[in-house]
Amino acid sequence: MDETRWNVRQVALGSAEYPYYYGHDCADRIAHVLGSYDADRFLVVTDDTVLRLHGEGFLAELSRWAPVEVLSRPAGEEMKSLVTLEAHLEQATRAGATRRSVVIAFGGGVPGNLAGLMAALLFRGVRLVHVPTTTVAAMDSTLSLKQAVNSRQGKNHFGTYHRPEAILTDVKFLQTLPPRELRSGLSEATKNCLAIRPLSIPELRDRLTHGQLQSTGTLQWLLEESLTAKAFAMSEDTKEQGPGLVLEYGHTVGHAVELCDQRLRGPQGISHGEAVAFGMIAAARISARLGGLDADGVALHEELVGALGAPLQVPHGLHLADIMAVVRADNKRGYLALQESEAAMVLLSAPGSPMGEPRNPLVAVDLAVVEDVLADLLGPSLLPAPARTTNGVLQQ
Ligand SMILES: NC(=O)c1ccc[n+]([C@@H]2O[C@H](COP(=O)([O-])OP(=O)(O)OC[C@H]3O[C@@H](n4cnc5c(N)ncnc54)[C@H](O)[C@@H]3O)[C@@H](O)[C@H]2O)c1
Repeated sequence: MDETRWNVRQVALGSAEYPYYYGHDCADRIAHVLGSYDADRFLVVTDDTVLRLHGEGFLAELSRWAPVEVLSRPAGEEMKSLVTLEAHLEQATRAGATRRSVVIAFGGGVPGNLAGLMAALLFRGVRLVHVPTTTVAAMDSTLSLKQAVNSRQGKNHFGTYHRPEAILTDVKFLQTLPPRELRSGLSEATKNCLAIRPLSIPELRDRLTHGQLQSTGTLQWLLEESLTAKAFAMSEDTKEQGPGLVLEYGHTVGHAVELCDQRLRGPQGISHGEAVAFGMIAAARISARLGGLDADGVALHEELVGALGAPLQVPHGLHLADIMAVVRADNKRGYLALQESEAAMVLLSAPGSPMGEPRNPLVAVDLAVVEDVLADLLGPSLLPAPARTTNGVLQQ
């Protein structure tokens, strides 16, 4: 792989297509592409951390092409609110935004989602471009049309779908991420290999255990893997309600553990990526109980999740009954006819082979089996004492 190359891949989510440009040390090339949009103004939605770390060079490049209005707040999930959205929209219109303006999401998934909804609402829809700076945004959230902010009750309650014009990433941006943030997006990439791209597992294993995770080569490889996996899962399912549900692998239990841990430890708790990684351990064991994965498949999950530095057991202090209550209310229930005593989950019969139907990879699982497997996974937490910069409000 030539790490100095400027690459472009086409993302196709059903009828929505957009280019994904990526390279290393390429802020000038990103600005050059943005310059070609003939915008009368760039509305840059970001957070104060990203602005401090990467704003100077990037904004200087951008301002050679059009006036730049910066819309920034302290980093964190609190930014994903209607209050900030309204303030940004008002600031944009005061600054003279028009239908020719382009909203640039510059940062992680939080400014990305906020910018996406802002672009959808401003004058009933203006152009949106993502410049992701986290692994979650570069490898996951921008490869989706979903844009949303949080309500006071929960995550992503107010939103819509809005297609970006393009995604443009400088892998150099990702190299300033703290290790936990870096790994958060990598567990989604690991999930993609386990659930969708088993042929990539040997290389993934090698890179996770021997490679430097933040090396340009590894980040570009993981980015390309994520693009391929998403393209496969979502080419005919832009709303992630059919075959794209395979992307939910690890999310049923992961989501429940994330919510319970967040209630217990607040923003210091388990990250979304760590929770999904643990959720894959649980899913692998449930698959094995139901005659799916063999012992090698379960061991493979444990090896990869361990290499990610994510917990292999239920985090200390969480109660089984609380986790099961969230599993019972999981939002995938509507996609499958279920008994009260069942949950809808993605399970594997082997790496890359979901147990469900291709058109709907979910299967009904008896909640007693989930509970039994989680009881086996109770134990001292392997979580390090975290110093998280973001609020870890649960993700959907
Ligand atoms: N389909 C979707 O729309 C989808 C999918 C996955 C996640 N999400 C959303 O994404 C959000 C999580 O995204 P995230 O993890 O990127 O969170 P984030 O945007 O809060 O970024 C995490 C932290 O990293 C910091 N940061 C960003 N870039 C940095 C860099 N290059 N160097 C150092 N620090 C940097 C940020 O300031 C922040 O403190 C959630 O709100 C979730 O709901 C959406």
